[in-house]
Amino acid sequence: MLIVAEDLTKSFKIPKRNAGIINVFKNLFHREYETINALDRVSFKINEGELVGYIGPNGAGKSTTIKILSGILTPDSGKCQVLGKVPWKERVEHLRNIGVVFGQRTQLWWDLPVIDSFELLRDIYKIHQNDYMKTKRINFYKKNRPDLEFF
Ligand SMILES: Nc1ncnc2c1ncn2[C@@H]1O[C@H](COP(=O)(O)OP(=O)(O)OP(=O)(O)O)[C@@H](O)[C@H]1O
Ligand SMILES: [Mg+2]
Repeated sequence: MLIVAEDLTKSFKIPKRNAGIINVFKNLFHREYETINALDRVSFKINEGELVGYIGPNGAGKSTTIKILSGILTPDSGKCQVLGKVPWKERVEHLRNIGVVFGQRTQLWWDLPVIDSFELLRDIYKIHQNDYMKTKRINFYKKNRPDLEFF
C-alpha cells in the first residue's frame, strides 16, 4: 500500500470576528474563538500505480488532507503513512520521495507565459506531443499570435 490514511481528523481554531467598532475594542480584551472541523475521520488507501482524484465542494477539506499527506500539517488524530513514512514525523526523508503542486483555483499561473502553463500540464498528464499540438487552444494561439514561438 502506497498511501494509507486512517481516521484523519483536523480542526482549526479561529478568532470570531464580530462586526462593528465597539466589537473591535471588545475583541482587544476578550477574544472569542470558534472551531472549524476541517477533517472528521477521513480514511482511504491508495495502491501503487493507482491514479486517483479527490473531489468535494469548497471547504470540504481536500487541501487540508493533501497538506497532511505532504507533511505540511499535523492532524489532531488519526494515522497516515506515505511510502511507509509518517509525513509529519519524517518530513525531510518524505519530501525526497514526493512531488506536490498546489494549483489553487486556476490552471494558468499568471506569472508564467501561457505556453509554459500548457507545457507543464502536457508533461503532468503525459499528453503525447502530437495530441498536444492538435488542441484547439494551441492552434488558436498559433493563428492569432504568429509572433509567438512554438517549439
Ligand atoms: N489554516 C487554516 N485556518 C483556519 N481554517 C482553515 C485553515 N485551513 C483550512 N481551514 C478551514 O478548513 C476547512 C477545509 O478547508 P480546505 O482548504 O481543506 O478545503 P478544500 O476542500 O481544499 O476547499 P477548496 O475547494 O475551496 O480548495 C474550511 O472550512 C476552511 O475554511
Ligand atoms: Mg483547496
